[in-house]
Formats: sequence, structure tokens, C-alpha cells
Amino acid sequence: MSTFSHIRGLGFHVPERLYTNTDLEKFVDTNDEWITTRTGIKQRHVVEDETCLDLAYAASVKALKDAGMEAEELTHVIIATFTGDMPIPTTSCLLMERLGIKNRAAMDLSAACSGFVYAVEVARALINLDPSAKILVCGAEILTSRVNWEDRSTCVLFGDGAGAVVMTAGKDGEPGKVIDTLIRADGGPGMNLTIKGGGSALPYRMGDTIGADHFVEMQGREIYKHAVRSMTSISNEIIEKQGLTTEDIDVLVPHQANMRIIEAVGKKLGVPREKVFANVDRFGNTSAASIPIALADARESGFIKDGDLVLLTTFGGGLTWGSSLIQF
Ligand code: ACO
Repeated sequence: MSTFSHIRGLGFHVPERLYTNTDLEKFVDTNDEWITTRTGIKQRHVVEDETCLDLAYAASVKALKDAGMEAEELTHVIIATFTGDMPIPTTSCLLMERLGIKNRAAMDLSAACSGFVYAVEVARALINLDPSAKILVCGAEILTSRVNWEDRSTCVLFGDGAGAVVMTAGKDGEPGKVIDTLIRADGGPGMNLTIKGGGSALPYRMGDTIGADHFVEMQGREIYKHAVRSMTSISNEIIEKQGLTTEDIDVLVPHQANMRIIEAVGKKLGVPREKVFANVDRFGNTSAASIPIALADARESGFIKDGDLVLLTTFGGGLTWGSSLIQF
């Protein structure tokens, strides 16, 4: 690419209400020990009456403030989500309206948990087409709206939240440069992780009772294997493509699905544990919001420092996966 794309500001927002592992014992036959050992998750934030738009708006306002920019300056709004407020209007259109702007481009992008990294690549392409573009890229999910609270094998894993970045063209050497992004998919094993009901293949008709197929259904073990394999391979690919080695990576920010997956990916890549950022214990898996929440959290807490080379790697339904290299 001829023009460089930079992340100018970051922000994240989660709803106030917390469900601890012990709280979940009220819904399903589970316990803190099982959830902690298998996933590393201790709590997750769950909406009460907020919508996906509310979370996306709060995160976006923070990202714009961090970038020192006004919403008025934006040319595009992209939201990675599969749990938007409604199919139409898209949540990105609703967000434009909430931000008080119009006559710009707005789109929702669906690539499940990998949606944010996909959206970063779309933003990079748009900036190359028009270097004056100023793009809000948000990942926002209310996963708990698609969680079956009677299924203990999935309901303990997910939480709600949003994270956002503002991207613009920039010069080599300026902080926040997106050096490269790789995105991939394989529909073959896709049915191992589904939300089938309510789509046109399985439409709900007036008066239908919603069934378990309206919610996340997952073959956990299959997904676990794919997650570790794909995040490791795409990370190695992007590192090699840039003529780097894993020793050059200062911080690894993986999709926050499960601590065992995070640790396995770090280990296979040869990135020491102290360079791997994890906040899955506090937020659970927030799907497309997971990476931007982790990135903003890592930057805010000082885990990512000026000059750090950061490797993002993600994985999700579809199946989809991807990696991005960012120089802060
Ligand atoms: N509490 C207590 N026991 C449970 C729970 C629970 N919440 N859930 C399942 N169990 C039981 C099962 O019933 C089973 O019991 P059994 O042996 O008597 O049949 C036992 O625990 C083991 O179940 P497994 O499903 O085999 O457990 P596993 O070790 O595979 O761990 C887990 C399950 C944590 C879901 C794991 O497979 C995993 O992490 N998979 C990847 C999931 C993931 O990250 N998905 C999201 C990625 S994509 C995206 O982000 C949308």
C-alpha cells in the first residue's frame, strides 16, 4: 500500500452490571472453579437496558477524544458486530445520527469475533483509496442477547462491551501505524459455531416460539483447536511477511476468548507470558469488541508503551481469523 494508515485514538466502554462466576450458579449448574480453570474468566459485564448503539457511542466518544478529533471530521463509520440494535437501520447509521453527523459512509461489518481486525483492513483500504478519509472503526457486541442462559457450556463464556479507534492517513514514523493486516476465512468448519435461528435459512414466523437455535451453539473442543491453530499460523505469517521474528514483538494482544487459548497461542509463537495482554478474566469474550477493548485497555493501563510493536490476532465464527501489526 502506498499510503500509511494510523490509529489516532482509542476508547472502550462496558456496561456497569457485573455477573461474577458465582452469580451464574443461579442460572446453570456451574461453579467458579470450573469456569476459572477452563477459561480464566472471573466476571463479565452484562447490559441492563443499554443497546449495542449505547455501548458503541460511549466507546466512540472516548476514541474521538483520545484522537483529539470531533465527530464532524469523520468521513466513514464502521461497526463490527453481529448483535447490532436491529438488522435495519444498521447500528453504524444509528451511531452517525447519535454523533450528530450525516452524509458520510456507514456500514456494519459481520465477521463474528474477527470483525474488528477485518474492519481495520477495510479502513486501511479506504484510506488508500482516499488519504483524506477519517474513519471510526468500532467493535460492539451484546453477546448476552444471543446467549442461551440454560446452556452452561456457552453462557459462562460471553460478555458485552464496545471498543473503538479512529484511523487516518499518516506518515511513516508517526505513532499508531498499522504496518500490515492479514484476514482469512474457511467456511468448511463454520457450523461448529452457530447462531442459526432468525436468518433467512431458518426464519421465525409470526407467533413462533424462539428455540435454542436462536442462540450461540458451539462445539467447544473443535473451536478450541481451530482457534489455537489459526491464530498461531496467521501471526507467524504476518511476522515473516514483514521480515520480523517473534522477538521483535513487544506486546501480543490476542482475541480474549479463553485464557487457555491465549496462553497456548503465546507459547506456540514463543512470545513470553509477560508480553501477552489478557483481560478475559474481567470481561469474558466480547466477540468483535474483544480486540479493541483489549487494545484500549492495554494502552490506557500502560501495558502498551510508546514505540511498542503490537501484534493483534483474532479468531471467530465463520470461521474467520486475522492478525494486525501496529507500531505505537
Ligand atoms: N460448568 C461446569 N461444568 C461444565 C460447564 C460449566 N459451565 N460446561 C461444561 N461442563 C461440563 C461438561 O458437561 C462436561 O461434563 P461431562 O464430562 O460430564 O460430560 C465437562 O464439563 C467437560 O466439557 P467439555 O466441553 O469437554 O470441556 P472443555 O474442557 O472442552 O472446555 C470450553 C469447554 C471452555 C468451552 C472449551 O472447549 C473452549 O474454550 N473452547 C473454545 C471456546 C471459545 O473460545 N469459543 C469462542 C471462540 S469464537 C468466538 O469468540 C465467538
